Amino acid sequence: MEPLEIGRIEQELEKLLSDTAQALSKADQPVAVEEIRVKTLGRRGGLNQFFNLLGQGVLTAEEKGRLGQKLNAVKQKLEQAIQERQKKLDKTAGARASVSEDPTLPGILPQGGRLHPISQTILEILTIFQEIGFSVVEGFEGETEFHNFDALNIPPEHPSRTESFDTFYLAKERDAEPSRLLRSHTSPMQIRFMQGRQPPFRIVVPGRVFRPDAVDASHCFQFHQIEGLAVAPGLTFGDLKGVLTVWARGMFGSQTRLRFRPHYFPFTEPSAEVDLACIFCAGKGCRVCGQKGWLEILGCGTVHPAVFKAVGYPVGTIGFAFGMGVERIAMLKFGIEDIRLFFENDLRFLQQFP
Ligand code: DAH
Repeated sequence: MEPLEIGRIEQELEKLLSDTAQALSKADQPVAVEEIRVKTLGRRGGLNQFFNLLGQGVLTAEEKGRLGQKLNAVKQKLEQAIQERQKKLDKTAGARASVSEDPTLPGILPQGGRLHPISQTILEILTIFQEIGFSVVEGFEGETEFHNFDALNIPPEHPSRTESFDTFYLAKERDAEPSRLLRSHTSPMQIRFMQGRQPPFRIVVPGRVFRPDAVDASHCFQFHQIEGLAVAPGLTFGDLKGVLTVWARGMFGSQTRLRFRPHYFPFTEPSAEVDLACIFCAGKGCRVCGQKGWLEILGCGTVHPAVFKAVGYPVGTIGFAFGMGVERIAMLKFGIEDIRLFFENDLRFLQQFP
């Protein structure tokens, strides 16, 4: 065979390569690629005709060597091109399968938020008081020592003013500033509200309070309180009992009974602690009430004259006040035994409060 003919064969091989590449680029189904493979690389395929030339004795040894090399190179290129196309089709098929959609399936609902059980409890408590004429006001979490203690008739030597006992004091930026702290109760808002206002009024004050308590199942360094204050001529302890009984029945049911036990608070005189007939055993005695039949839920009393004096109200002003812990009430209401659950943000817990 003339060298020229070898050149022609090489040209034909190049053409086979480019035709195949073109055919592959149009093949969009695996079967089409397989067809091309059989046509070019199959036993009776195009490339084999050229391999057959090697055994027909028409070529010199040198030509055989040259053609053999060329044929192997072309074969490799064809195999590679076919394989690549096959892979690409497999990939798009896979991708198509994974995005395949069923338009009749319901959509994915966005996660809706909801009120924290403590917020729910606060709202429920406030709503009942609002229904009997109380307004809601809010105070400050950072308070002065004057509002948190002095004006509430809590003297400097009172143990609740010690750092380790009840109080987180805040650092002062300048010596001349009043001493500040994270409020240990919501009672200072009694003072803030009365300063610059005249009775009659009745308010409830929800808010967060802080104490350096070690955390356990019933204590936390922060919790929530709701304070109440009513000031008007002629108010009696009977009015206080009535208001709290109406609230407790709204909160825990119309059969709810309260017990007022004499107690001491510096800012009320007389003062009482209020117990709720145990809502779990109806007063018979159980594990929750420690067999007592009663659950302590709040403190209250007639506002001490020293408190009115601190805000400049005249002698003879009359009012009552009360304060309750929200977590305690929420725990009773929902049957929760550990206060820490409220602050851990565990959705498994929180999602149980619709
Ligand atoms: N401030 C009290 C406390 O944190 C609760 C309290 C008791 C508030 C009696 C009152 C009240 O207004 O009259 O323990």
